[in-house]
Amino acid sequence: MSKVTIFGAGYVGVPTGAHFARTHRVTIYDPDTEKIDTIRKVVNNESDELHIHEKDLIELLRENRQNICLTSDITQALKDPEFIFIAVGTPPNEKGRANLKYVCSAAEEIASNLKNECIILNKSTVPPGTAYLVQNIIKKGLKSNVKFAVGSCPEFLAEGTAVEDLRTPDRIVYGCDDPEALDKITRFFTFLQRRDSLCPMTTLSSELTKYAANAMLATKISFMNSLALLCDTIGANIREVQDGIGRDQRIGSKFLNASMGYGGSCFPKDTQAIAEYAVLNEVPLSIIESTIKINHDTTRYFYKKIVEDFNGDLTNKNFVLWGIGFKARTDDLRESKPVEIARNLMDNGAHVHIYDTVAGALTNFKRENPTYEGKYTLYNEQYEMFSNEIDGLIIGNEHEKFRNPDLEKLESMRHKNVYDGKNILNNFLIKNLTRLKFQYKSVGKDSVVNGLDRSKLVNFLLDKYMD
Ligand code: UGA
Repeated sequence: MSKVTIFGAGYVGVPTGAHFARTHRVTIYDPDTEKIDTIRKVVNNESDELHIHEKDLIELLRENRQNICLTSDITQALKDPEFIFIAVGTPPNEKGRANLKYVCSAAEEIASNLKNECIILNKSTVPPGTAYLVQNIIKKGLKSNVKFAVGSCPEFLAEGTAVEDLRTPDRIVYGCDDPEALDKITRFFTFLQRRDSLCPMTTLSSELTKYAANAMLATKISFMNSLALLCDTIGANIREVQDGIGRDQRIGSKFLNASMGYGGSCFPKDTQAIAEYAVLNEVPLSIIESTIKINHDTTRYFYKKIVEDFNGDLTNKNFVLWGIGFKARTDDLRESKPVEIARNLMDNGAHVHIYDTVAGALTNFKRENPTYEGKYTLYNEQYEMFSNEIDGLIIGNEHEKFRNPDLEKLESMRHKNVYDGKNILNNFLIKNLTRLKFQYKSVGKDSVVNGLDRSKLVNFLLDKYMD
């Protein structure tokens, strides 16, 4: 059992701390006393309200409470940790570069208060080289001659599945250039995870791996979104193509869902950050620049499909939006594509009736969109808003509740339009919709409804492929 201190009680710090506490003694430190109090109340069964919406997190915190200490006191946090994990925010600036302000102030606090030999690992997503910067700051600020090493241990958990991702990760990536420290980190993780999931490497490689993983996943999605456009144009079905390529194990079936674009606090930020980092290093990553551009274009493409149905005039039109979070089961609206679509609709005169399975997502939408007050209505029930004044239903995220809508409850709509922003309705349901005179639009499988124009394709081939 090791003594661990986590810097930062946010989306990464709290689940990570709760997970480490299964086998280690963990102190979660955050200067924000309100956050620490909120967690303390939850751990002590005095409240069920956490500032982070994460499945099973409250249970995990309570299960491991005997190993968790919560504090806003830096002296207590740095009394005698063997490992420190920095898990503070790295918000992007206007150029898309990660802001290292919080990482650097964590390093300064560590320098001023460290008294014991320690390994400091950075969990925050940072540009490669940051561990060396942290090392320099600590070296400069240390009050005594304490031995320390700095490395990187990026986080790969996804919002909504953090606890499960931490329990059964595909791999644990960590890097440190000091071989003795690297061995100690390996021992730390062997208490927690399967040995074959451990992935030790150099500091820089570990830092780059984080950006590379998110950029690769985002690129998979943008690749499918580009193909989806081609599918809509020629009459193929992106879902079928997805299945056809995803079963090739070299490609893999995950993260191939075409959609109205990826969102969240990670993919948009990290693709931008790695693209910018590469340009600054004079090795532009044009593939990632394309990924970013395609993501913007796809959202516009999806929005255009809606607007076209009303000849560009959305005045007095009413839309239902199911799912406002950037994905299902989160209250996080950062870079949320459904939010972008809702704002575009409202900017152009429409009223949006919004439902999400997570109440906090609705509260956040209200708080973050004061200028749109009066142009939207929020609902805690999925079907309550349907009436003969509704002109379209937009599916904003991939929650199970949206996969199999009760069609009878949709029948009252004035204009029977269904816009599937996450391609989650299956062919059987789409055919039922068509039978009931609904119009269905998606990202790359409109052919299920529209069929395809074989003679057009034949003429195209005869014209262009017969030299
Ligand atoms: C992502 C990664 O999946 C995590 O591994 C990583 O640790 C995390 O970023 C991070 O850097 O902290 P997250 O942003 O929580 O996790 O959410 P994802 O489940 O990856 O979804 C991101 C976006 O892509 C969502 O808008 C989702 O709807 C969209 N998506 C996902 C698609 O459009 N198609 C897919 O096939 C998969």
